[in-house]
Amino acid sequence: MIVNLSQQHSLISNWVSELRDIQIQTDRMRFRRNLERIGEIAAYEISKVLPDIQKEVQTPLGTATHQVLKEYPVLATILRAGLPLHQGLLNYFDKSDNAFISAYRKHHPDGSFEISLEYMSCPELDDRVIIISDPMLATGSSLVKTIRFLKAEGQPREIHIVAAIACTVGIEYVRREEPGVKIWCGDIDDELTAKGYIVPGLGDAGDLAYGPKMQM
Ligand code: URA
Repeated sequence: MIVNLSQQHSLISNWVSELRDIQIQTDRMRFRRNLERIGEIAAYEISKVLPDIQKEVQTPLGTATHQVLKEYPVLATILRAGLPLHQGLLNYFDKSDNAFISAYRKHHPDGSFEISLEYMSCPELDDRVIIISDPMLATGSSLVKTIRFLKAEGQPREIHIVAAIACTVGIEYVRREEPGVKIWCGDIDDELTAKGYIVPGLGDAGDLAYGPKMQM
């Protein structure tokens, strides 16, 4: 399942357009906050498909019945670019447990790169719903590696991916390698450069949120 959250005219489309806008990108706080807002709306949309239970609440005047989440999903993110999107998800799924993974592009002198995963902290994952956030679903290889990394720790019942922008080839790769994963994104672009950047995309999400890094 793949959901493009800006397909119907919605605020998400405004925020994705600001993320992409080279003039507005100079405002790092706005860039991070827009990612966070996309995470919030994604959380709201995902919450509609998560299992619920009926709960009776005692008010000062009587009893109210509500459908509430049966359980909170585990929120996982890929450092560092995933942090603002993750924070948005956590703002809404405020009781969630969290997992953090470090994945980065290790560049070779010939311009090629491999994804290196180095650190992880995660809660119990067996039979749980996991939502993995990564602002840019480009080649899909860091997400597939992350999913395998997580699956080596436990057997989740369901996996959702949240991305601000996803690329068609990356979506296809994730769906081929990990069928059953549900993808929620702010928009979908068709082109990927040889260096793995999405076009038109928005540039380097981690640098735009947190400043330039040294190349490893
Ligand atoms: N990561 C980014 O930050 N941007 C892209 O276009 C692809 C991967």
